[in-house]
Amino acid sequence: MVKVDLSGAAGFFTAAGPDYELAAIAHKTLADKSGLGNDFTGWVELPQRVKDTELERIVAAAEKIRARSRALVVIGIGGSYLGARGAIELLRPMPGRDDPRVFFVGNTLSSDAVCDTIDALGDMDFDVNVISKSGTTLEPAVAFRIFRELLQKKYGKDADGHIFATTDAHKGVLNGLARQHGWESFVVPDDVGGRFSVLSAVGLLPMAVAGIDVRRVTDAAISEMKALDLRSPENPAWQYAAARQLLYGKGYSIELLACYEPSFRFMAEWWKQLYGESEGKDGKGIFPASVEFNADLHSMGQYIQSGPRTLMESVVRFTASRRELVFPSEDGNADGLNYLAGRKLSDISLVAADAVREAHVTGGVPNMVIEVPRRDEEGFAALVCFFEMACAISGYMSRVNPFNQPGVEEYKKNMFRMLGKPE
Ligand code: PA5
Repeated sequence: MVKVDLSGAAGFFTAAGPDYELAAIAHKTLADKSGLGNDFTGWVELPQRVKDTELERIVAAAEKIRARSRALVVIGIGGSYLGARGAIELLRPMPGRDDPRVFFVGNTLSSDAVCDTIDALGDMDFDVNVISKSGTTLEPAVAFRIFRELLQKKYGKDADGHIFATTDAHKGVLNGLARQHGWESFVVPDDVGGRFSVLSAVGLLPMAVAGIDVRRVTDAAISEMKALDLRSPENPAWQYAAARQLLYGKGYSIELLACYEPSFRFMAEWWKQLYGESEGKDGKGIFPASVEFNADLHSMGQYIQSGPRTLMESVVRFTASRRELVFPSEDGNADGLNYLAGRKLSDISLVAADAVREAHVTGGVPNMVIEVPRRDEEGFAALVCFFEMACAISGYMSRVNPFNQPGVEEYKKNMFRMLGKPE
């Protein structure tokens, strides 16, 4: 399990502290499946269900793709791509020699971006994983038609064998097409919304193609979900959910998720969707934003230190580095850096993080630390389960339905009207 350190936020709490009684009620509501959106709480059991049903088929499909293709084009948007991208960038930021490249399309209508991806594919052998629960989302549907045509040009009658569809088990356009053309298909379960689906085939197939051990991820997630069922203020998901709700009540309406690992960038994007779409409704919700330290200390640091005091900061820290680098000594010390010689870069980074934390807390930014043992399959699973559980508890604490996203439909209605989509 991850550990949450609230010591940098405690000075900003009210005397009563985080409301663990309300967190307990929220957790019970979730576990009993008696709250708003209860038909979308299947993500709690998802890792075990996937292990019992599709996991081996996912691994087999990934092995097939890895053996024959140099690239996988993943088509999806929102919850149908951010988790996979977050995982791959976190765990495989530099693809190995035998790893196919994974391209993410269908999250934009930019012709430049689509053409750039087509150029980058060149004459590489590739497969396509089209991911859409509804099957009707315009951005991925447009990309799919384009990349399907590319497959048909390249592989002729064998093109269908290069398409893997991840979609609803029973209904929708994509489901219908997959059946008609015999594409290998995987399921986005009925009771799991897009932003909670990364531990299904939605995330696991692209991750496995990228070389991530998805059996390890799934096993770790099964244990994590069990551990996070702990009904106690010791539960890190309660701590984080209750602390951020307390701070929100005191006017800290923006949460910055920060990490000192550049490879965390798309995990932060995944987190932003998870929390933004789950909590931002009914005129309420903490605005989720993200920063990448140290880089953003030199762009956003000024605002964080001395801008409006509406920011709270949550920092994801990986306890151990995957690789160590000892800072070298230099004869003459011309750059004046010998005071660091012999120290591990990871230790220097930790000291820098402590310095930042102290400065931000002193400057009036409540700070929460989310500590993860390692940047590996288990660490990823721990983070996903923790953030999902805390998100649901936090959403129920603020009395919204954390599992719907009615606001997303508004732009779609306008777009379809303006594009002249037939009724
Ligand atoms: O969390 C969600 O439900 C959304 O982000 C969806 O994943 C996103 O809109 C894509 O939808 P679909 O998978 O139906 O194409």
